[in-house]
Amino acid sequence: MPVPKDNIVVALDIGTTKICTLLAEVDRNQQVNVVGVGTAPSAGMRKGVVVDIDEAAQAIVQSVEKCERLSGYSIQSAYVGVTGSHITGANRRGVVAVSPNASEITVPDVERAMEAARVQAIANDREIIHVLARGYTLDGQDGVRDPIGMVGRRLEAEMHIVTGGSTSIRNLVRCVNRAGLQIDDLILQPLASSEAVLSPGEKDIGVAIADIGGGTTDVAVFTDGAVCYTSAIGVAGNHVTTDLSLGLRAPFSVAEQVKIEHGSACTSQVGPDEVLEVQTYDQDEGELISRRLVVDIIESRMQEILRLIRAELGRSGLDGRLPAGVVLVGGAAELRDIRLLGRDVLELPVRVGVPRGAIGLTDTIMRPAYATTIGLLRWAAYHTEEASAPILTFPQWKGLSRLRGMFREFLA
Ligand SMILES: Nc1ncnc2c1ncn2[C@@H]1O[C@H](COP(=O)(O)OP(=O)(O)OP(=O)(O)O)[C@@H](O)[C@H]1O
Ligand SMILES: [Mg+2]
Repeated sequence: MPVPKDNIVVALDIGTTKICTLLAEVDRNQQVNVVGVGTAPSAGMRKGVVVDIDEAAQAIVQSVEKCERLSGYSIQSAYVGVTGSHITGANRRGVVAVSPNASEITVPDVERAMEAARVQAIANDREIIHVLARGYTLDGQDGVRDPIGMVGRRLEAEMHIVTGGSTSIRNLVRCVNRAGLQIDDLILQPLASSEAVLSPGEKDIGVAIADIGGGTTDVAVFTDGAVCYTSAIGVAGNHVTTDLSLGLRAPFSVAEQVKIEHGSACTSQVGPDEVLEVQTYDQDEGELISRRLVVDIIESRMQEILRLIRAELGRSGLDGRLPAGVVLVGGAAELRDIRLLGRDVLELPVRVGVPRGAIGLTDTIMRPAYATTIGLLRWAAYHTEEASAPILTFPQWKGLSRLRGMFREFLA
């Protein structure tokens, strides 16, 4: 099989319920053309974190091999999503003086300011995943988006710094390596998802994305075109299924099927007489169960998840300033009537985010559950070193040098 060329990018989304590998050709205009898709059920993962390296590595291999067979390429490395409650995001400010002899602010000045912000976030047991520029203040003038070429003496960089627990990150890296792949980069999952479903206009005006997967619900909040808050909650779609399984006294797999085929997020949308036949533990041949009961169980848990999202928006300090509202993605966002319940609980505009910005073999993946994987591809297409990334995102590569060193260490 041929080895991928420079213009080929691979995304690997290691979720709690599914693993998805996508391979795409990227043209000069950063258009993403998917030529390989491989999905496999996940294993060895809990709440977005690796708990069994061998099991998870085997599941990754399955997904990668499917993608290789379809695309005809041998996959060597991938852009990998990261999540879990070990992730934290914090805003930091780095201040530097610009030489009075300098005629204008240059890239090294900006990098020094970012480095000054970055060092504040370094702790022994944490790894830096992203150092993202939110904006700059130049001699007291805030709201500067790109200071390069401007004149000033005191440069302040406002950064959003995402860190993860060293143990969880190292185990993720080790697991991907064990599956035979190198890591091009680690990307926070909701940031990846945002690349696939949010528009620049929404990010400017104020918007949040909530990725409700199987094991985690990831939140990211954007304003003024940049991310300002990130967090991960350890409750998601699998909890809904577990509740149903307990409530109906049925196996998890039966509860999952009932949820997907007959579920809804709103009891108000269900007639009082609707009944379903469910294979419960009590009766092998199928028991008649009220659909209202099913939806009532689903609604309670989804309400809790949405309230937790609302609490995160409150912590971001931007809950009153999100005119574009909340965009829901992840498999659990495919639940019927989720938008209705979302509007009710969040009291904001809510839409379900369907990924866009990819062509090719996309018929099975242009769904909310694949927002992260398509977003990883778009992130990769946009942020490859050959690509001309704008100055606002370019210096974040500096922040990854420590992590990149770590990948090399593991690969050695
Ligand atoms: N049509 C549907 N209705 C309701 N729930 C659904 C539907 N389709 C998928 N789900 C749920 O979505 C969840 C899986 O979502 P997703 O594929 O985004 O998770 P993941 O990426 O594997 O996990 P995570 O991101 O949490 O690590 C499961 O709980 C599944 O039951
Ligand atoms: Mg996911």
